[in-house]
Amino acid sequence: MRVWWLIVSVCFARLLYGESESGLFLKGEEIFSKRCASCHQAYIPQLLLNSNYEHNNTDLNLTAPTLTELSFALKDQVGDRKGDVESQLMEIEAFLQEYISHPDSNRSIFPADVRKHFNQMPPMKLSEDEAEALAVYMRAFSEKMMVEHGVKRYSYAEALQKAKEEGKIIMIEGYIPFCRWCMRMDREVMVEPEVKAALERDFVLVKMNLLTQKLPLGLQHLGTPSFYFIKSNGKEVIDAIEGFGNKREFLDLLKQISADAK
Ligand code: HEC
Repeated sequence: MRVWWLIVSVCFARLLYGESESGLFLKGEEIFSKRCASCHQAYIPQLLLNSNYEHNNTDLNLTAPTLTELSFALKDQVGDRKGDVESQLMEIEAFLQEYISHPDSNRSIFPADVRKHFNQMPPMKLSEDEAEALAVYMRAFSEKMMVEHGVKRYSYAEALQKAKEEGKIIMIEGYIPFCRWCMRMDREVMVEPEVKAALERDFVLVKMNLLTQKLPLGLQHLGTPSFYFIKSNGKEVIDAIEGFGNKREFLDLLKQISADAK
C-alpha cells in the first residue's frame, strides 16, 4: 500500500513540476543559455563549418564547437545510437556530468580533425538535475535546427492535395533515425539556400521513416537515404533514387526530375 502511494506521489510530483520531456527541454535551454552559450554558438550551416575547419578555424574563429555539432555528436557517439531514446538519454546525461567536470581530450566525442582546433573546455560543476535537462535539450537540438532551417515537410495526404493544387512534384525522403548519411544529407544539403529554393519552387516534401511507414503506390523501400518522386497527379512515379548526393549532385538531380516530370 505504502509503496503504491510513493509511486503515485512521485509520478504526481513529476507532472506537477513539469518534469515532462518538454519541461526538461525548456529547463535545459535555460541552463545552456546561462552557462554554455557564451562559448558554444547555436547553429552555423555545416558547409561553412567544413570550410572553416579546412582553413584552420580562420574563417569563423570559433571558441568551441556549435551546439548543433554537439547535438549530432552526442546522438551519434554516446551510448547506443540504435537503441531506445530513454536509455540513450541516460547515457548522454552520464557523459555530460563526467566530461564537464573532467574535460579530457582522450574521451572526446569529436573526430581529432575537429577537436584539434579548440582548447580544452574548462571544468565546470553540473548537478544531476542540470545534466538531465541538458541531455534532453542538447540531444533534441539538432533536429529542431534541421526543421527550422530546412524546407517545410507535409504529411502524405497534405502533400497530395498541395501537389495537385500547385502542379508540383511530390518528393518523399526515406530515412531511418540512425542513418548517418541521412543526417549528412540533412546537415549539408537540405538546409542550403540554393537547394531550398529549388525544392520550394517545384516540389512538395514528405519525410518518411522507412522503419515504421509504408511508401505509397506500392513503391519498394530502397536503402537510406532515398528519394521517391511522384507526379502532381499523385498517381505516377517519376523516379526512385538511393544514396547521398552533395549539394551540386542533388541540385542536378532535382533539375533532371523537373524535366522528366514535364
Ligand atoms: C569557456 C568556454 C566554454 C563554456 C562556458 C562551455 N564550453 Fe563546452 N566546450 C568548450 C570547448 C573549447 C570545447 C572543445 C574542446 C573539448 O571538447 O573539450 C567544448 C566541448 C564541449 C563538449 C564536447 C566534448 C568532447 O567530447 O570533446 C560538450 C559536450 C560541451 N562542451 C558541453 C558544454 C556544456 C553543456 C556547457 C555548459 C554547462 C559548456 N560546454 C560550457 C568550451 C566551453
